[in-house]
Amino acid sequence: MSEPLILGIETSCDETGIGIVRGTTLLADTVASSVDEHARFGGVVPEVASRAHLEAMVPTIERACQTAGITLDDVDAFAVTAGPGLAGALLVGVSAAKSLALALNKPLYGVNHLAAHVCVDQLEHGLLDQPSVAMLVSGGHSSLLLVPDITGEVQPLGQTIDDAAGEAFDKIARVLGLPFPGGPYIDLAARDGDPNAIDFPRGLTSPKDMEKHRFDVSFSGLKTAVARWVEREERSGNSIMVNDVAASFQEAVVDVLLRKAIDACLTNEVGTLVIGGGVAANSRLRAVAEERCAEHKIRLRIPSAKLCTDNGAMVAALGSELVRRGRDASRLDFGSDSSMQVTEVVA
Ligand code: KG4
Ligand code: ZN
Repeated sequence: MSEPLILGIETSCDETGIGIVRGTTLLADTVASSVDEHARFGGVVPEVASRAHLEAMVPTIERACQTAGITLDDVDAFAVTAGPGLAGALLVGVSAAKSLALALNKPLYGVNHLAAHVCVDQLEHGLLDQPSVAMLVSGGHSSLLLVPDITGEVQPLGQTIDDAAGEAFDKIARVLGLPFPGGPYIDLAARDGDPNAIDFPRGLTSPKDMEKHRFDVSFSGLKTAVARWVEREERSGNSIMVNDVAASFQEAVVDVLLRKAIDACLTNEVGTLVIGGGVAANSRLRAVAEERCAEHKIRLRIPSAKLCTDNGAMVAALGSELVRRGRDASRLDFGSDSSMQVTEVVA
């Protein structure tokens, strides 16, 4: 018998993502993004995102089914992001998923977006090692997790105490006059810059901070330092070397994130590090992670860039793993939860 066919729906932010997987084989990953509608506001406008999901939902499902060569009747189970995310945006996806599950009489899994960012790696690199350490770095989250079992046991080790990593990229891009969302533009600008040009601060790495915040990160001090540096240069009439600032800022973020992630692996005696979330698409993060993991003999797993940013494949991947492991589906009266804790994998 062939493995179960799972359709996943993601609407926690500005991407309407529909993913279709069979087992751990990806058949379709279709994304409609409303990012252009938010660009002029310099951030995602929740109401605009919700309306865009409503318009994109049915066409995106149809495109995904076409790509996968399936009909909705073929689907064995549905999965949807139940949280965390923007409240109104989540409601659109959850409502759509419930309609499908009810009409087709199929099980539905309301899943955690963060766990899905980790689980998506199974589509490219096989089943996750148990336990793994996972580092999630996106526009909304930066967390370091100990993952004995992605279908049920996820333990937070640390997180950001202020801005998420992606948020820091987006804000610094704005300071440098780069478009929104800034991460990919900083990544690009940094390729022609010197990462050692400016010595920006590494937050929460002093021995004193490490006592209380060993696995936490903070980007507010770094953000202020970059903004001040740019202001000072402008006041002095110097032209800003955008490439050098981008590269030096990026280096500080990458350095801190990886110091903490490797420390988490070594301290917990875990041999595998999985990195996920939009910032995991960053080319410098990927390169330095490879170097440092090799140095410490840690197995590194990072999904390809397209699967790092928000998409439906990640939701389908987690749904598929839940089915494979025989986990119970959600009751159809489950709610969406904009601040769903990472310890809750299924609603
Ligand atoms: O995971 P994601 O698509 O959405 C959230 O759940 O937040 O992450 C989006 C974030 C944005 O802040 C974006 O600037 C950042 O990921 N990002 C990057 C890169 N590509 C996306 N940051 C750094 N370098 C990149 N190449
Ligand atoms: Zn995300």
